[in-house]
Amino acid sequence: MTDTTTIFHLSDIHFGLEDCGALEWVVREIDRLRPAAVAITGDLTMRARHREFAAATQWITALSAPVTVEVGNHDMPYFNLYERFTQPYKRFEGMEQLVEREIDLPGIKIVPLKTVRRWQPRWPWSKGWITPKALARCLAAIDALPPGVRALVTAHHPLREAGTKGTALTRNGTEALHELARRNVLGVLTGHVHDPFDIMEPTPSGPVRMIGAGTLSRRIRSTPASFNQLTWDGAKLEVRVRNQEDVSTPDMQIGTVPEDAMPPRTPGEPVAPVNQVPAADPPVT
Ligand SMILES: [Fe+2]
Ligand SMILES: [Fe+2]
Repeated sequence: MTDTTTIFHLSDIHFGLEDCGALEWVVREIDRLRPAAVAITGDLTMRARHREFAAATQWITALSAPVTVEVGNHDMPYFNLYERFTQPYKRFEGMEQLVEREIDLPGIKIVPLKTVRRWQPRWPWSKGWITPKALARCLAAIDALPPGVRALVTAHHPLREAGTKGTALTRNGTEALHELARRNVLGVLTGHVHDPFDIMEPTPSGPVRMIGAGTLSRRIRSTPASFNQLTWDGAKLEVRVRNQEDVSTPDMQIGTVPEDAMPPRTPGEPVAPVNQVPAADPPVT
């Protein structure tokens, strides 16, 4: 049987500081390969501004594939603390309602796991935190799947550190991995750290595959803008890190990633800052 399913895993587009060239290329790749689904694992915006969500909505609704989105720490109001505390997901959900379409994958169900909080009893609030309620909701959705259907969990923060420059420090991540290992989970797709990885994480209940996507924003860390192209043949899930510079997947993924995986610059070209966060921004992912 040669039937395969292609899924594009995108993350951290950060509209407001998006990489326009990379996004144009992703649109062309979606048109060309027609993935069965596009999963975007959070940080759709830079500061959850209305105009950033409007740009995200416009870009996603024009794509020629069904899309699912998961909330990231940048997608909650940043300037309006009153709204952040009272209605943290209102803006994100407003966009979500407009862009999400039904996704039908053979033998796979995409199941979200929320890893963000409106506030945390620690600083910074950008790090990951899985509440018992969020984990219970995710596990209940997995447990309700028909026999044989495998869950592809989508979350914003990696459930444990993956050796990237950016950190997630996800609270309760170890417990979540342990619970996921006991279920029919194909992998956990995440973003946040802006560099890709593909790690088999051992737990007392067995291994869990953690797959991280890079960023499609200008807030790059160790690797150029990229997304993950997943191919599922019913037995094996293959991950290819797509990037315009054609850096190979093993070189893009953390674990074998060189200290600086950016392509060589032409002599005389000014050195671009590796992390293009405006000076006023705190160093959060
Ligand atoms: Fe993030
Ligand atoms: Fe991010």
